[in-house]
Amino acid sequence: MCTESLAGVHPRVADAIQYALRSPGKRVRPLLLLAAYQAAGGTGDATRLSCAAELIHAYSLVHDDLPCMDDDDMRRGRATVHRVFGSRTAILAGVLMIPLAVEVVRASTSSMHLPESRARAIARALLRAAGSGGMIGGQLNDLLGEGLSLDLGELERIHAAKTGELIAACVAMGALAADAGPEDVHAFESYGRRLGLAFQIMDDVLDVTATTSQLGKTSGRDQALGKSTYPALLGVDGARRRAQSLVEEGLATLRERGLLTTKLAEVANFMVSRTS
Ligand code: IPE
Ligand code: IPE
Ligand code: MG
Ligand code: MG
Ligand code: MG
Repeated sequence: MCTESLAGVHPRVADAIQYALRSPGKRVRPLLLLAAYQAAGGTGDATRLSCAAELIHAYSLVHDDLPCMDDDDMRRGRATVHRVFGSRTAILAGVLMIPLAVEVVRASTSSMHLPESRARAIARALLRAAGSGGMIGGQLNDLLGEGLSLDLGELERIHAAKTGELIAACVAMGALAADAGPEDVHAFESYGRRLGLAFQIMDDVLDVTATTSQLGKTSGRDQALGKSTYPALLGVDGARRRAQSLVEEGLATLRERGLLTTKLAEVANFMVSRTS
């Protein structure tokens, strides 16, 4: 579904994109978007819209793994895109996934018959989260922070930006697509921000507690790359507790507004109980 608009793309780049998208990821971001859409009263099918979020996420992984970034050989249990297709193709494939995501937003919001203003708000939420105030800004500071001892505040800003903003945008996109009002969208977004930060804290925890075969990516990379991490600053148990309390705060935000559904609670709990 995400790859239907690859017509006309050079076959090598198209193959690399399909390889990145069809690998077995957890699909947490599309799941969150769909759960938020339903919780906000959406009755249509937001599956295609959820692919736009996965496209941005999958591109971020292709670039994150490059030799000039985290230099990883394995992702989702397989060789990384640049190991299979080379760095040049991986870079181009990753970049191309950004306009593809925009195209998927346009096509999906149109087939859902959303008003133009909603479609624009959804695209803005996704692109803002992917940009310098979100994922790219966080990724840059993550790389600049290698070898430094960042404090908790600095690390929280990096994690919230590089991972939290996109996860928050997924939740907001689902709410926007369901025509939720501004205050509800804001509550969904706050829930998403807390979950997103908790998700990256748990990614740091799993990097030291899980095995490569459990993760489908090489464990122990953060220490090898000299990254500051939550377990290094708070200990594994302290980091887990921080993630758990963020999830509880996120759930409380939605509960207070009567927006919490079983599905949203389940996804939130999965964020901190996952083993891969
Ligand atoms: C990994 O994300 C990178 C982070 C932002 C933490 P996921 O853990 O969601 O990776 P996949 O999509 O399941 O492979
Ligand atoms: C990645 O964080 C965040 C992104 C925006 C891709 P990590 O570098 O910790 O993710 P993994 O551990 O390689 O999946
Ligand atoms: Mg990284
Ligand atoms: Mg990485
Ligand atoms: Mg990691």
